[in-house]
Formats: sequence, C-alpha cells, structure tokens
Amino acid sequence: MEPRTGVIVVAAGSGSRMGGALPKQFRLLGGRPLLARSIDAFAKALPGAPIVVVLPAGYVAYWHNLTARFDMAPHTVTTGGTERFHSVRNGLAALPQGLDLIAVHDGARPLVPVALIRRAVALAAAEGSAVPVIRPADSFRTTEADGSSHPVDRSRLRAVQTPQVFDATLLERAYRSDFSASFTDDATLVESCGCSVALCAGERRNFKITEPEDLLLAEALLAAETETGEAETPRERHEAGYRGTAGTASDDFAGGAGPIR
Ligand code: C5P
Repeated sequence: MEPRTGVIVVAAGSGSRMGGALPKQFRLLGGRPLLARSIDAFAKALPGAPIVVVLPAGYVAYWHNLTARFDMAPHTVTTGGTERFHSVRNGLAALPQGLDLIAVHDGARPLVPVALIRRAVALAAAEGSAVPVIRPADSFRTTEADGSSHPVDRSRLRAVQTPQVFDATLLERAYRSDFSASFTDDATLVESCGCSVALCAGERRNFKITEPEDLLLAEALLAAETETGEAETPRERHEAGYRGTAGTASDDFAGGAGPIR
C-alpha cells in the first residue's frame, strides 16, 4: 500500500538576498509564480497528498490573489515564524492527522524533479528518512578567526537539498524540541534527537533560488526545455537508458532508489 504522505512547502522567508520589493517565492518564473512550480511538482509526484504552504503573515491575501489568477493544485495555507524551524512547525500543525510520511520542501526550489520526490518518498518508506544530497563541484576551505584557512576533503562533502522526507511520528517528535540555531534543515533536527538519516541522490537542477542569477538560470533551463519539448531531467534520461552527451551520467546517480553515501 502507498504510504500516506503529507507535504509542507516552506515559503515564509523574506528572501532578502534576492533583493527587490516582492519576496522571491512570489516572483514569476516561466510565467508562473515560483512557489506555484514547487506545489505543481508535489501534486504531480504524489496525487491527492495534502499540501500545506507556509507563507509570511503579511502575504496571505496576496497569495490568495495569485491563486485566483493562476491555475494551481489544491493546497492549504498557514503562516510562518521567525526561523525556518518555526515555519515547519506551523506547517506540521496544519497537516491532517494519521499520515505515514511527511515531506518538507523549500518553496525556493521550484525545479524539483518529480522523480526526485518519488525517490525520496520510496526511500523514507523503507528507511524512515530520506535526505537528498549532491556532490559539490567547488573546492572548499574552512576559515579561522586569525585569517588562516585550510582545505577540506571534498570527496567526503555533500550539499544537502529538499524535499527531506521522514516518518511522520519521528518528525513530529523532533519538532517538539526547543529551537537551536544549528537546526538549518530537518535532518539536523532529527539527528539531534538521536536518529540517523538516510541519504538519497539529489539533482543539480533542484537548486535553491537565492541570488538574482539563480532566477535567470532557472528561466534559462525552463526556456530550453520548452524549446526542445524535453521536460525530463538528465537523471530521467539516464534511468531510461540514454547515454548521449556529457552531463547525463555522474557519481550522483550511484545508488538508484536505495540509500547512498
Ligand atoms: O533562508 P533559507 O534560504 O535557508 O530558506 C529556505 C526555505 O525556508 C525558503 O523556502 C524560505 O522561504 C523558508 N523559510 C521559512 N520561514 C523562515 C525562513 C525561511 O519558511 N522564517
């Protein structure tokens, strides 16, 4: 039987790094509000799953206006808090009872592939958690207060994405904790309660729209796909057995639907 999965899309941040008068989650991307694209992906991946969207308190009326103007998948709305942690907690309170799994997604990742959502849910159903990660392309250094810096072994690093999917009881228990500034994502919080988390393969295109360049990049990706009629991602082409141009296969594909390291 399919697990009953609830979805929380957090979009209550101020988006200050993006600049501009309107928070980024409401900006248009390929002619649709950026946040609507995140909702679309979950409605397509998990038909019938309850979706709660967490908004800044001052933008609820604005969002209702947008939902009237654009065709959007059904969802409910609640308001966020000072930190992402408080926004997720409000989202949890707004979901129905009796769910098996809960997926938490950053509304600022509008290009999340449907296949990634399904892969994370399948892994969480088997392992109790699923946290998508990708191998970083850059090199990294840690910096010290005295101005010195040290290289880091990149081969062991992973960049963490969303949706992060958890057993519902586990996530609800974790969110009874008091807030700590170290809780930058849901996995960190769940681990602070003594549970380990399973990693699954993320996707490069599932990047978080943070700076103005990110929005341009997302526009370009959508435009290229519309032009070629290709909606599927490099991973989907790879899984379908395609072995064409560079960029279709990478280490990130190791592990299939199971956990990765
Ligand atoms: O700030 P950061 O980029 O880490 O935010 C990740 C996601 O969490 C964004 O989608 C943002 O809107 C959301 N968020 C939230 N409530 C906050 C802060 C961030 O819902 N107080």
